[in-house]
Amino acid sequence: MLVSGSLSTSWTAYLGLLSALSATFVPSVAVKEHDFKKCHQSGFCARNRAFADHALATTSWQSPYNIAPESGSFKDGQYQATILKTINDKGETVRLPITISFLESGTARVTVDEEKRQKGEIELRHNSKARKERYNEAEQWVIVGGLTLDKAAKVDYEDKTQVTVKFGPSSEFEATISFSPFSIDFKRDGHTHVKLNDQGLLNIEHWRPKIEKTESAASEETKEGETKEQDKKEKPKKEDESTWWDETFGGNTDSKPRGPESVALDISFVGYEHVYGIPSHAGPLSLKQTRGGDGNYQEPYRMYNADVFEYILDSPMTLYGSIPFMQAHSKDSSVGVFWLNAAETWVDITKGKGSKNPLALGTKAKTSTHTHWISESGLLDVFVLLGPTPKDLTARYGELTGTTAMPQEFALGYHQCRWNYVSDEDVRDVDRKMDKFKMPYDVIWLDIEYTDEKKYFTFDKHTFPDPIGMGKQLDSHGRKLVTIIDPHIKNVDNYPVVAELKSKDLGVKNKEGNLFEGWCWPGSSHWIDAFSPAAREWWASLFKYDSFKGTMENTWIWNDMNEPSVFNGPETTMPKDNLHFGNWEHRDVHNLNGMTFQNATYHALTSRKPGELRRPFVLTRAFFAGSQRVGAMWTGDNQAAWDHLEASIPMVLSQGISGFPFAGADVGGFFGNPEKELLTRWYQTGAFYPFFRGHAHIDARRREPYLAGEPYTTIIGAALRLRYSLLPSWYTAFRQAHVDGTPIIKPMFYTHPSEEGGFAIDDQFFVGNTGLLAKPITQKDRVEVDIWIPDSEVYYDYFTYEVVPTSKGKSVTLDAPLEKIPLLMRGGHILARRDIPRRSSALMKWDDYTLVVTVGRDGKLAEGDLYVDDGESFDYQAGQYIHRRFVFDAAGKSIVSVDAEGRSAKDVQEGEWMKKMRQVGVDKIVIVGAPAAWAGKREVTVESEGKTWSAKMEFTPAMKGRGAFAVVKKLGVRIGADWKISFA
Ligand code: NOJ
Repeated sequence: MLVSGSLSTSWTAYLGLLSALSATFVPSVAVKEHDFKKCHQSGFCARNRAFADHALATTSWQSPYNIAPESGSFKDGQYQATILKTINDKGETVRLPITISFLESGTARVTVDEEKRQKGEIELRHNSKARKERYNEAEQWVIVGGLTLDKAAKVDYEDKTQVTVKFGPSSEFEATISFSPFSIDFKRDGHTHVKLNDQGLLNIEHWRPKIEKTESAASEETKEGETKEQDKKEKPKKEDESTWWDETFGGNTDSKPRGPESVALDISFVGYEHVYGIPSHAGPLSLKQTRGGDGNYQEPYRMYNADVFEYILDSPMTLYGSIPFMQAHSKDSSVGVFWLNAAETWVDITKGKGSKNPLALGTKAKTSTHTHWISESGLLDVFVLLGPTPKDLTARYGELTGTTAMPQEFALGYHQCRWNYVSDEDVRDVDRKMDKFKMPYDVIWLDIEYTDEKKYFTFDKHTFPDPIGMGKQLDSHGRKLVTIIDPHIKNVDNYPVVAELKSKDLGVKNKEGNLFEGWCWPGSSHWIDAFSPAAREWWASLFKYDSFKGTMENTWIWNDMNEPSVFNGPETTMPKDNLHFGNWEHRDVHNLNGMTFQNATYHALTSRKPGELRRPFVLTRAFFAGSQRVGAMWTGDNQAAWDHLEASIPMVLSQGISGFPFAGADVGGFFGNPEKELLTRWYQTGAFYPFFRGHAHIDARRREPYLAGEPYTTIIGAALRLRYSLLPSWYTAFRQAHVDGTPIIKPMFYTHPSEEGGFAIDDQFFVGNTGLLAKPITQKDRVEVDIWIPDSEVYYDYFTYEVVPTSKGKSVTLDAPLEKIPLLMRGGHILARRDIPRRSSALMKWDDYTLVVTVGRDGKLAEGDLYVDDGESFDYQAGQYIHRRFVFDAAGKSIVSVDAEGRSAKDVQEGEWMKKMRQVGVDKIVIVGAPAAWAGKREVTVESEGKTWSAKMEFTPAMKGRGAFAVVKKLGVRIGADWKISFA
């Protein structure tokens, strides 16, 4: 939640309204860490941690979960059985059906349900209308492919105690399912990599009726959310029931009509010291241990999408979005797990030698990482991915949850935002000034104040009398407008949107089944239930141009507050006992909520006008696994502080390896006023975020980049132009991400999985396949930087072509005065740029390209690719794109361009855009590290489309540490054609 210090008029009105109502609730006006639960305040988390403490401290501990004898069967790549959970000393059990699916891709999926809830044989308390089953629809929202069963999977060994299944590519993966106690051991190439329930922490809280206690029995129970210390260590006499039936936090009581229902499991990564992923958290890329100890966290990583105000750094606290995908990495091997559960989830991480007990030190044993996953409700549904490379993991995860939507090209340009541009004239003025100061940008944004008193789908008539005129001015330079639309709908009379939401019954319900009412920016509001197909259809109708008046073809959308943020709700969100479409409790679907809303908006934008279909742009704050298919995210309300700049890099890297690479942080920092050095360094960093947007809080001083003053304005302008010149390479990286889930900016462990020295490095990264290695400066007064070098390739300074004196596995110190972004080019790559500075990406559409070749050590091949399409439509899906592969062969003394996918001209029928691209060529090739033998050479031979001609080359010999380089100009070749340039 956000509250400004000096308030805008509407803010004053809002707070006035709140104070009038403060008799009924107290609005949180400054949410702090203690406004969000710690594990001990979250009943199910505390119970499962206590369970773990007890299990790990008890030498004779045996998990009470066993596969029922004779219950197992294997057919067509699936193993099915019943787990019996022993629930008391009398040996009574509950039945938990388990399905283990072996998928063609080599991924295995383990799903555990609960028979009684599955069959609806339970009673809900408080006359609740909620569904009785464990939530089983997450798959429908999240999974888009990769579920084909591996028909070749086969039982390799079986006896009364276990079964072993071989599966995956060439049957090199193996799963041994032990029956008593139940556990699974996943092997690759004969070695164990992942173990489920090895520590015996599997816990599925089965349904039971509430037994009303006598007063004296009740008084023995522990208080709300607390676990008795001694219970943790000794065998607990009985379970802690204090939070089974209702739970109170911050004055809000959750009625919990289904009682305790958590699912938890330990997952061990045997021999793995690093784990990554489970964003979004403001901490290091390599995740920390969470059970205390030097430098470790005390709290588990939490995933419960929330509107966290002024979030703290280096913390496992939850943020705005969640992706429960974790990767474990060791030298030469990566494996991962994807925990498909949308309820509140906590993950404990410990590391230790030996596999059973992390505290038991075996001298020879390798360090393993033990994780403990705890979700409040739903199925236990976990995918195990056996690697072996980080790239395999992102690809397999991409198959399951989809890859990043191919964005329009403008979306990769610079976005200028603040809360708020106050009028259409203000927008026009910023637009003109960006031009005046030669600052390229593509999109200007409107935050909530553009609306008529926070009624979405309206413009304030006084401040925005002419939104279409404003839109047209932007359009004249190919620019776009993004307007914010939040999921809370103002509850007032004479507002057709809320009237329809009510009359059509499309909102989220409270626990009684009536329309839920809560508080957000507009005051009293209702929330669209985007889980409902009818609500999504209605939502689409609101975006039609004649409905959302003032918008036009270049308007796109920002979805904020979709965790959802509810100012007067528990932890600033919805009560967990609220009901969604299908009568699923909010508890079950909370982490999916933001994605369903962004998804509704994405689809709405595909149907604004018949015949007009372009790739939608929707920015979201809340997200879940799968959100990458419908837009971009940003890391929420950061601060104008150096440590927030620094934290943004691991956060954006974490998004990238977790399947949602279209990510960025607010450039400049949302809260506060950045000093000019910080603002400048932030632009230099932001130019390397996949999503590059400047944003500021309503109370922050204006900070459009041209206001910074010299030398800052010039330096920021250079960073913007660097971003724009490299747009072809960024777009190519997005294409790769779209095709197979590869991150757009890549951490060291990802590109160099064998170099242990890089596993914990999270402040530098490679951009796509360009070989560009960036390490933005994120500290005040820093004028030099140490870059860690992962290999023995040659590295050149991007700007000077200096050959950097590197050595594999060591850091090299580079000068980085304010005007300089530490940026190296790795030898052996070819990247594409467009060098003519222009006002927006749209205006660069028909510009020629520059190729930069970096000659590798020992003259090895240099390679690279370029992907280009019309940048806006879906025609690329019908082959309307150019994808070139460039190869420089120093020995063969030539550079060639061939179709990267082996297509020939006759394979593609050229549409309008491709025809027009015939006029676009390669203007220039720069060969950095050019062979000395080229000295004196002035011409090269060019061959293309059946013709041969010559082009001029200028050679500059190596000097004072700078590499030799050659520039070939006016090549006269088309970007879309095959060609060869010979230097012989
Ligand atoms: C919260 C968002 O995080 C922030 O970026 C935005 O400016 C405000 N809401 C106002 O809409």
